[in-house]
Amino acid sequence: MKKITFIGAGNMGEALIRGIIADGLFTPDAITAAEPDEARREKLEQELEINTTGDNREAVRGADIVCLAIKPQILDSVLEGISEDITEDHILVSILAGVPTRRIEDKLGKKVRVVRVMPNTPALVRSGMAGISSGRYAGPDDLRTGEEIMSAVGDVLRVPEELIDAVTGVSGSGPAYLFYFVEVLSRAGVKAGLSPEQADLLARKTVIGAAKLMEETGLSPEELRRKVTSPGGTTEAALKTFEKLGFEKIMEKAVLSARDRAREMGKTDK
Ligand SMILES: NC(=O)c1ccc[n+]([C@@H]2O[C@H](COP(=O)([O-])OP(=O)(O)OC[C@H]3O[C@@H](n4cnc5c(N)ncnc54)[C@H](OP(=O)(O)O)[C@@H]3O)[C@@H](O)[C@H]2O)c1
Repeated sequence: MKKITFIGAGNMGEALIRGIIADGLFTPDAITAAEPDEARREKLEQELEINTTGDNREAVRGADIVCLAIKPQILDSVLEGISEDITEDHILVSILAGVPTRRIEDKLGKKVRVVRVMPNTPALVRSGMAGISSGRYAGPDDLRTGEEIMSAVGDVLRVPEELIDAVTGVSGSGPAYLFYFVEVLSRAGVKAGLSPEQADLLARKTVIGAAKLMEETGLSPEELRRKVTSPGGTTEAALKTFEKLGFEKIMEKAVLSARDRAREMGKTDK
C-alpha cells in the first residue's frame, strides 16, 4: 500500500484522513499527519491511530503521496522547508484555495507531479463535492490517485485548471451560501410571525429535505421547482419577488467575487 502524508491536518486535512480510512483506501499505519500543534497530534494519534510528526521533512521523506492541507498564506515557507525532500517520484495533492499548480512547481524548482483539488466542507460528512485538475508534470494516473482520495469524501469533477477558481465560487464556498440562505430564510420567518426556534427548525429542515429530494429523485432543480409552483399560488408569489429584486444577479456577482478572490489569493500570497 502506498503511503500518504498530510502537511497540515486541520479541518479539511482531518476530514480527508477520516474519509480515506473509512473508505479503506489507506490503513491508518500508511497515513502520516505533519502538524505543528502537539495536542492536535496526540488527538489524531489516539482517535485515528495514524502516525504524526511535527517535522514536515521527515513526513515527506516517508511518503509516496503528499497532501498539502495548510492555509495558502504559509505555503511558501512550507515549500521552502520541504523542497529538498520532494522528488519527482512524489505525487503532490494540493487543496489550497487559489494556488495554481505552476506556483508550486516553480517554487520547488523541479518537475514535481502536482494535482490540484478544490474540496468543500461537506467532505466532513463524506458528502463533499470537489473539482480536480492536474499540473504540467502530473499524468493520468496521478489525477486518478487524486480522484480516489477525494472520492473517499464525496464526488469529484475533473475540470481544466483555469476553471478551478470557478469551482471555488460555486462548490468550494457554496456551502456557506446555503447556510446564509437558511439564516435569512429563518429571519424572514420571524418577520412573518414565527418564533426564532420555530423559524430555524422550518428553514433548516426545508433545505435538508429539498436537497434529499433532489438527490433521491435525480430530477433537475428547475423541474422540482416547477412541480411546486402552481400558477397564481404562494410559491409563485415568492419566486416573482426573488426575480423582481434581482436574486440571480446577486448570486452571479457573489460567485464571481469568490472566484476573483481565489485568483487574488493564489497570486499574492495574502
Ligand atoms: N475549509 C474549507 O472549506 C476549504 C475548502 C476548500 C479548500 N480549503 C483549503 O484547505 C486548506 C486547509 O484549510 P482548513 O480549513 O483545513 O484549515 P485549518 O483548519 O487551519 O488547517 C490547517 C492546518 O495546518 C496546520 N499548520 C500550520 N502551519 C503548519 C506547518 N508549517 N506545517 C504543517 N502544518 C501546519 C495548522 O496547525 P495550527 O492550527 O496549529 O496552525 C492547521 O491544523 C486551505 O488551504 C484552504 O484553502 C478549505
